[in-house]
Amino acid sequence: MRCFLAVLALSLSLGCSRGQPKGADGAKTPSVRIALVTDLKGYLEPCGCTSDPLGGIDRLAAQIRALRDGPAPVVLLIAGDTFFDTATLEPVRVDQASRNAKTLAGILDGLEVAAVLPGRSDRAQPSETLEALKAASDFPWLAMGRDAELLRVKAGDLRLAIVGVRPGADRNPVKPLVASAEADSDLTIALVDGSRRDANRIGAIDGVDLVVQGGLDEDDPVSPREAGRAWLLHASRQGQGLTVVDVYQKKKGEAFVDRSDWSRAERARRLDAQLSDLGDKIAAWEKSDDVDAADLDSQRARLAALQKERQALDGPAPSTDGNALYATWIPLSKKAPKDPAVEALMRKHDKVVNDANRVAFANLKPPPLGPDNIAYVGSAACGGCHQPAYAWWSTHAHGHAYRTLQERNKEYNLDCVGCHVTGYGQPGGSTVTHNLDLALVNVGCESCHGPGAAHAKDPEEFGILRETPESTCLQCHNTEHSDLFDYEGYKKTLVVPGHGLPPG
Ligand code: HEC
Ligand code: HEC
Ligand code: HEC
Ligand code: HEC
Repeated sequence: MRCFLAVLALSLSLGCSRGQPKGADGAKTPSVRIALVTDLKGYLEPCGCTSDPLGGIDRLAAQIRALRDGPAPVVLLIAGDTFFDTATLEPVRVDQASRNAKTLAGILDGLEVAAVLPGRSDRAQPSETLEALKAASDFPWLAMGRDAELLRVKAGDLRLAIVGVRPGADRNPVKPLVASAEADSDLTIALVDGSRRDANRIGAIDGVDLVVQGGLDEDDPVSPREAGRAWLLHASRQGQGLTVVDVYQKKKGEAFVDRSDWSRAERARRLDAQLSDLGDKIAAWEKSDDVDAADLDSQRARLAALQKERQALDGPAPSTDGNALYATWIPLSKKAPKDPAVEALMRKHDKVVNDANRVAFANLKPPPLGPDNIAYVGSAACGGCHQPAYAWWSTHAHGHAYRTLQERNKEYNLDCVGCHVTGYGQPGGSTVTHNLDLALVNVGCESCHGPGAAHAKDPEEFGILRETPESTCLQCHNTEHSDLFDYEGYKKTLVVPGHGLPPG
């Protein structure tokens, strides 16, 4: 995926001026530019833990504004879980998640969202929460009460019919709505939240041109896929990027040709893999005595056909003088510009959440020690006897993991604190506020060696874990927060003179 993204980013940077993706016909202005966000899941920004964090509503805002500076009308549509990422929140998280959703709704409101089709996690929230959110925003939430809902939007010369489909609704209530919209609209876009199958079913309805597909739990964005006469579109999740679809509408009611370089690059990638696989197999069969010559010939013919298909992809995009679409995925990387006003709202939000949690959880204590539990003491206590180890640790990333959060006003944030402190939620350990007067902040010795109060008091009598299995690291170094983690490689950097090796 990484190299695919790099290729995409390259073609984008070549075809991009002032945030404008290159269209299908170079300079020609599309009839409308549809900007899509799917499965945002309440993300105001990425956590920042990984090597190449993508996302940020401030970057999204800057990108949308840049698009609006272009000549084509821009319609921003959102589908799938938008404000919440789970249907049922743990009670301690309700306040923080609701504040987060409200900040997000306010920011989206400033981006002139044409419509949102909320996803299943959004819909599962208590009605008071949803009402408060709707009150904080002016954009329409589609199909909250009905199976499907039609919204008409004018964009330049085009009349759009936006059909929101409630998650789980079947085709039958959607079909007549699509039919009723057809007479006086030029383009019909369905917003759905569901599986690929659900989206395919809606795409197969006569009259639907585009399906915006929320609910796809894909790590990567998906280039336009055919479903009946329609195209299915997706824009990745957690706000990592947005999909921009330039629509060139020449004749109403006619099917669209996908001229996207993105789809062609994906198809080329798939074909390359198929070709190399089939090539290897044929080479093996050629050496084998028990393969029938006729079978081998037919496999060679298949290879030749695939090669031809692959070569065609290097040529020009299919031309058409009819309807065409050109989709681009714009990753919101660290380099993407931010909207300063939105960024200021986010920073204010972080501070409000931090302050609220500090007060709300002031008395939150960790579970009490059971008969078999050992208490945590904090790294400074270990340093009394293990000075070289302590000196090394103090300069390591683990030794300032809490500062990383403090610098961002996130040390009381429930989404962050657990992995940037020691013994979080453990008996005799820490909570979001309770950390033995800062003794348990940072990823301390006991995060790896286990709670050590007994050992620190009497090392002759009580041992402590020396080995730290991979499972210990994975509690924090999971794929979402540590994409490059590799146990042996990472561990090696911890075993240094003074810690695991004789002091040098
Ligand atoms: C009072 C001094 C003292 C304190 C405080 C202390 N240790 Fe030790 N530690 C020792 C001694 C002595 C040994 C060697 C014991 C042995 O070899 O039997 C040791 C051994 C260890 C070992 C190696 C264990 C093994 O089986 O090889 C680890 C890991 C360790 N300590 C971690 C810690 C941590 C973490 C803390 C803080 C929670 C800590 N120590 C606090 C004195 C101390
Ligand atoms: C309690 C959570 C936690 C555990 C357990 C943990 N880590 Fe970490 N680790 C972190 C955090 C958080 C950071 C980043 C700290 C920062 O820079 O703010 C980090 C950073 C690191 C880094 C530095 C990476 C860099 O790019 O500089 C290494 C290496 C590392 N961890 C290795 C390990 C290994 C190996 C284990 C298991 C033996 C482990 N960690 C266990 C939370 C943890
Ligand atoms: C599941 C555990 C986990 C959670 C939750 C978590 N982090 Fe991290 N964080 C890590 C680990 C592990 C690393 C080190 C990753 C690596 O280097 O491979 C890290 C690294 C970071 C870094 C990079 C530090 C540097 O200097 O390079 C930042 C910034 C950060 N985290 C911020 C946050 C924020 C903000 C949140 C909450 C939104 C958060 N983290 C939530 C585990 C976590
Ligand atoms: C991120 C995980 C991690 C943290 C944090 C950490 N250690 Fe370790 N420690 C290790 C690993 C891994 C080893 C090597 C174990 C092995 O050889 O398999 C080790 C080894 C040791 C040993 C054994 C040294 C020897 O030569 O036998 C001691 C003592 C020790 N650590 C103390 C500490 C102290 C004290 C701290 C805090 C100041 C600390 N460690 C923090 C992971 C960690």
